[in-house]
Amino acid sequence: MAQRVRKAVLPVAGLGTRFLPATKAMPKEMLTVVDRPLIQYAVEECLAAGIEEFVFVTGRNKGALEDHFDVAYELEATLEQRGKGAELKQSQEATLKAGNAIFTRQQKPLGLGHAVWCARHWIGREPFAVLLPDELMVSSPTCTAQLVAAHEKTGGNVLAVMEVPREQTKSYGIVEIKDETNGLAEMTGIVEKPKPEEAPSTLAWIGRSVVMPEVFDHLAKHQTGAGGEIQLTDAMAKMIGHTPFHALRYAGQRYDCGNRLGFLEANIAIALQDPDSGADTRALLTRLLKG
Ligand code: UTP
Repeated sequence: MAQRVRKAVLPVAGLGTRFLPATKAMPKEMLTVVDRPLIQYAVEECLAAGIEEFVFVTGRNKGALEDHFDVAYELEATLEQRGKGAELKQSQEATLKAGNAIFTRQQKPLGLGHAVWCARHWIGREPFAVLLPDELMVSSPTCTAQLVAAHEKTGGNVLAVMEVPREQTKSYGIVEIKDETNGLAEMTGIVEKPKPEEAPSTLAWIGRSVVMPEVFDHLAKHQTGAGGEIQLTDAMAKMIGHTPFHALRYAGQRYDCGNRLGFLEANIAIALQDPDSGADTRALLTRLLKG
C-alpha cells in the first residue's frame, strides 16, 4: 500500500527577477492575488489534500513568509477588542499549527533541484508533495489532492501535466508518456526546457508533484543541467524505470503567476469568481474596456 503523503516542500528561494522592482525586498510568493498572497493559496491547496506539514525553502528577503503563517498577536488582539470577528478569522486562517512549518534557507539560488534537496532532512524517507507557489491552481478537488489520490493508486511519483503550445516547450519540463487511462499515464521520459523542434511532446509539468524520497539520492550528486542549474526534472528523469512514475492530466484552472500577464489574469479571473465582488469587478472591467 502507498505511504500517505503528509509533507510538502514549497521552494520559494528564487530571485523573482520578472517582478522587479516589486520583489526587490519582498518575496514573489507574497504578491497578492485578490485577497491573499500566492503562498497562502499553495498552503490551502495542500491542507485540502490532507497535508499539514510544510518545509519552506527560502532565501534572503523572505522573512515576510514566516511572519505570514505566524500568530499576529497585536493585530489579532486589537481586532478582538474591536469586535471585528470576520477580519480576525481572516488573519487566523493564515496561521499554521505550531511546529508544522520549517523554514530552511537555500543559501544560493542554484536551481529548483537544489532547493528541494535543501529540504531532505525534514522530509526523511517518505513521499512528499512539491508545489511551486507561483503557479496558482483552482479546482475541486485541488491539484495536489488529485496527485495524492493518483499516488495512492500507483504508489510512486506523480506529476501534474497540461498541454502547452509547442512554441512554449522551452519554458517547461516536457514529459513523454504511454498507456494513458482517464488522464493517468505511465511516464517514459522528462526533459527540461527542450526547444520546440526537439520536444518529445507538448505535455508540460506544471509545478505540482508527489515525489518519492529516492529523488534526494540523485539530487545529492549536484549535477547541473539546463541553464547551469541543478534541475529537479533531471533527478526525476533518473528515477523513471526504477520507481513507478506517472503523469496526471490536471483537471482545473491554472494561472502562471511567475510572469506579469499570468499574474494579472489570475487577479481578474479570481475577482470575477468572487461571490462578493464578482459582479462589481465585471462592471468595472466593462467600464474600463469601453473607455
Ligand atoms: P522560477 O524559474 O520562476 O525563478 O522558479 P524565480 O527566480 O522564482 O523567478 P524569475 O524567473 O527570476 O522571475 C520556479 C520556482 O522555483 C523556485 C522559485 O522560488 C519558484 O518557486 N526556485 C528556483 C528556488 O527555490 N531556488 C532556485 O534556485 C530556483
